[in-house]
Amino acid sequence: MPHVQLIVGSTREDRFADHVMAWLSDRLRVRDDLTYEIVDLRDHPLPFFDQAPPAYTKRDYPNEAIAELGQLLDRADGYVFLTPEYNHGYSAVLKNAIDHTFVEWNRKPAAFVGWGNVGGARAIEQLRLVTVELEMAPLRHAVHVLGSYILAMREDGADPLQVLAPLDPRLELLVTDLLWWADALSTARASLPG
Ligand SMILES: Cc1cc2nc3c(=O)[nH]c(=O)nc-3n(C[C@H](O)[C@H](O)[C@H](O)COP(=O)(O)O)c2cc1C
Repeated sequence: MPHVQLIVGSTREDRFADHVMAWLSDRLRVRDDLTYEIVDLRDHPLPFFDQAPPAYTKRDYPNEAIAELGQLLDRADGYVFLTPEYNHGYSAVLKNAIDHTFVEWNRKPAAFVGWGNVGGARAIEQLRLVTVELEMAPLRHAVHVLGSYILAMREDGADPLQVLAPLDPRLELLVTDLLWWADALSTARASLPG
């Protein structure tokens, strides 16, 4: 069964990311066609990247924190990047984590859930370009959580499982596509020499 990781790209206090995580967890935990786990970059504080390129050093990790993240990412067959949009880009903390790693992502699919005034669209487009360099397969189907949802979540007693429910069909498309690619690429990776 494909193992999917949700990579959480915001580490801010009071982050909107927590609502997205709650919604995704609720929808994914009842599925019997995947296993998933959350990779919260808050749990992986890393120094600013200043090392030799991980594309060359591969799994020769320079310290325990990076080894821990790398070995965690290795477990997944596919990823969903959960991304905020800061100044029309994705977060620095996510780029830093990406730059510390490389081979762990190779030949695996990447799907995207973004939030912001235009649903994190600009951050997601940037991430798609970056994931190509990581030798990933970035997918078309994304979930864009528009600013209206962010405002709705600020209402007293707002429940993310209900507020974000209109996005369930988009999530279904994303997951269906991600699982197809995870399966296809997992088979293809197994046939690689070495
Ligand atoms: C430094 C900064 C820059 C931002 N720039 C944008 C932006 O360019 N586009 C946008 O839609 N929202 C922008 N926002 C608003 C974010 O979409 C909003 O704060 C959102 O909650 C961020 O996600 P997070 O709370 O999970 O970190 C920005 C927020 C911050 C803190």
